[in-house]
Amino acid sequence: MARFSRRDFLKTVSTAGAASLALAGSSARGAAPATSAVPPRTGRSVLGLRAPKLDVVRCAVIGLGARGGGTLRELLALEGCEVRAVCDPHAPSLKRALDNVAKAKKSAPAAYGDGPDDYKRLLGRDDLDAVFICTPWRDHTPMAVATMRAGKHAFIEVPAAITVAECWELVDTAEATQRHCMMLENVNYGREELMVLRMCREGVFGELIHGEASYLHDLRSQSKQLAHGTGSWRIPEHEKRDGNLYTTHGLGPVAQYMNINRGDRFARIVSFSSPSLGLPDYAAKNFPAGHPRRTANYVCGDINTSIIKTARGRTILLQHNTTSPRPYSRHNLIQGTRGLYSGFPDRVYIEGRSPKEHTWEDSAEALAKYAAEFEHPLWRKVAEVAKNLGDTARGHGGMDFVMRYRIIQCLREGLPLDQDVYDAAAWSVVGPLSEQSVAQGGMPAEIPDFTRGAWETAKPLGIVS
Ligand SMILES: NC(=O)c1ccc[n+]([C@@H]2O[C@H](COP(=O)([O-])OP(=O)(O)OC[C@H]3O[C@@H](n4cnc5c(N)ncnc54)[C@H](O)[C@@H]3O)[C@@H](O)[C@H]2O)c1
Repeated sequence: MARFSRRDFLKTVSTAGAASLALAGSSARGAAPATSAVPPRTGRSVLGLRAPKLDVVRCAVIGLGARGGGTLRELLALEGCEVRAVCDPHAPSLKRALDNVAKAKKSAPAAYGDGPDDYKRLLGRDDLDAVFICTPWRDHTPMAVATMRAGKHAFIEVPAAITVAECWELVDTAEATQRHCMMLENVNYGREELMVLRMCREGVFGELIHGEASYLHDLRSQSKQLAHGTGSWRIPEHEKRDGNLYTTHGLGPVAQYMNINRGDRFARIVSFSSPSLGLPDYAAKNFPAGHPRRTANYVCGDINTSIIKTARGRTILLQHNTTSPRPYSRHNLIQGTRGLYSGFPDRVYIEGRSPKEHTWEDSAEALAKYAAEFEHPLWRKVAEVAKNLGDTARGHGGMDFVMRYRIIQCLREGLPLDQDVYDAAAWSVVGPLSEQSVAQGGMPAEIPDFTRGAWETAKPLGIVS
């Protein structure tokens, strides 16, 4: 790594930068600036931000659908956390949320449901510290920006933003307001992902050179949701954008393995999409002629494949596919000079350690040995807390609870969060930049340095205990 000097970096970035500056076009939503342009900082860096300790974290949840409902349930169960307000203009969702608070025997939060802008009234309250935003993608940045401007910490569902300009808006607002702005990338708190993070930190794989990440999840049945529910807003995104629509679940963990924004950074991306056949095929089989899902013009390729190059020269293969019949996968692969880990299914190969040369260790027994040696202390600790909460803490195999537990712990102890606004921006911007590259026939798009140079000296995320 040390052999890659800053001069080399500037040389490679400026060569590719010249090409992509000339090509930088507009993203799907409004004109984007040349993607590598770094606007001058107007606020103060929030790298390692410590906010004043909070005895009790007073929260609100905006958006009470599939994800917001689970968020609310876990926040209600966490020690040192109170839910003071909830918001959703969809009356049945709001009612269900209030019923669930009553079932949990907690004080009724203030309810806001008077149209799509009622969240602004919620943000005017003076008894809130943190706001969890679990709404459709297009609302994330406007709501997070308004949250920070109202003096609250913003926690945004994935992806945090869908254009380059929105990513900068998040960074600039966090720096201007000195509020936390964290994207809720729960997969970074998965048991395997935390274990692999520890193995990376302990040098088990040697020097990291390559990662693979994906979101491969058959979500075609969401086409059935027209008026309300995830499919009502998510399926129409396939009519508007062609690229990687949902970048962060696979990419977030690989980014933390590689110390992205803390010693390395995403430098550029190339991306290609396959034909878009999955949703029309599904619609033809499931809906009558004239149904809106049959007349829709889907433009998003079923399989989008991108390659990201980092400033230190590493590569990441990134894929997205939510419109084909297939088992679920996030890839979760990290290759170093001494070996690799690969998820879905989980397997490890470490040269000199794995018993048989060039052969995966993938038995339950072998994997249990790795877990015994490298289980992340955070997982070990929170698993104990979660056990007592039963079903409440089982979302996505427990990773959701570990994430929310950790957020509340950091806010109470005044600690920096594990993911900051620079991570939210870097992991999300890959979406619109994949669109740009696809639209340019696969030409590279420069990925902005949202840290404005701080990545070179920022310390890697530690293994917290
Ligand atoms: N991290 C994860 O594992 C995970 C899993 C699922 C969804 N998500 C993310 O969570 C978000 C929500 O997804 P979902 O599946 O819950 O969708 P959903 O459609 O079930 O829920 C969204 C809710 O937001 C409400 N809403 C819409 N506009 C609003 C407004 N202006 N003010 C307040 N509420 C508003 C809707 O009425 C709905 O109840 C998305 O960003 C999605 O990507 C993340």
